[in-house]
Amino acid sequence: MAIERTLSIIKPDAVAKNVVGEIYSRFEKAGLSVIAARMVHLSQQQAEGFYAEHKERPFFGDLVSFMTSGPVMIQVLEGDNAVIKNRDLMGATNPKEAAAGTIRADFAQSIDENAVHGSDAVESAAREIAYFFTDDQLCKRTR
Ligand code: PPS
Repeated sequence: MAIERTLSIIKPDAVAKNVVGEIYSRFEKAGLSVIAARMVHLSQQQAEGFYAEHKERPFFGDLVSFMTSGPVMIQVLEGDNAVIKNRDLMGATNPKEAAAGTIRADFAQSIDENAVHGSDAVESAAREIAYFFTDDQLCKRTR
C-alpha cells in the first residue's frame, strides 16, 4: 500500500447542511488523516482557476456559481491509497448513481450540488493541494 495525499473539498451545500463533522468522521474511520484544513469562501477567480480544465464544458458557469455560493471546507487527507479511498467514500459524481452509504448518497441532492470534491489521481492531487496550500502548511503526523 502507498501512503498518498489527496485534496478534498466539502462543497457549499454540505457546509450549509452542517455535516462537516459527519464527513470528517467518515474520513477518520476509513484511516485518512487530515494534515491541513481551511474554510474559504472562494472568489470567482479562485473557482474558475481550480476548475480550469472544465472551462469548455456546458456546466462550467453553474459549477463556478455553485462553488462560490457559500463557504467550502478544504482539506488535505493522507493515508494508504488516499486518492481512491476518498473517491470510494464520496460515491459517484451523480448522487442518484452513488452507492448506499457513500457521502454523496447520504448528503447530496443532485449532480449540480454533490457535497464533496476529491482529486481523481495522485498527479492531480499534487496540483490541487498546491493550489490551496503551501508545503509548510501540510503537517507531519508525529504520533
Ligand atoms: S469527475 O468527478 O471529475 O470525474 O466528474 P466530471 O463528470 O468530470 O465532472 C467534473 C466536475 O464538474 C461537476 N459536474 C457538474 N457540475 C454542475 N452541473 C453538472 N451537470 C455537472 N456535471 C459534473 C462534478 O461534480 C465535478 O466536480 P468535482 O468538484 O470535481 O466533483
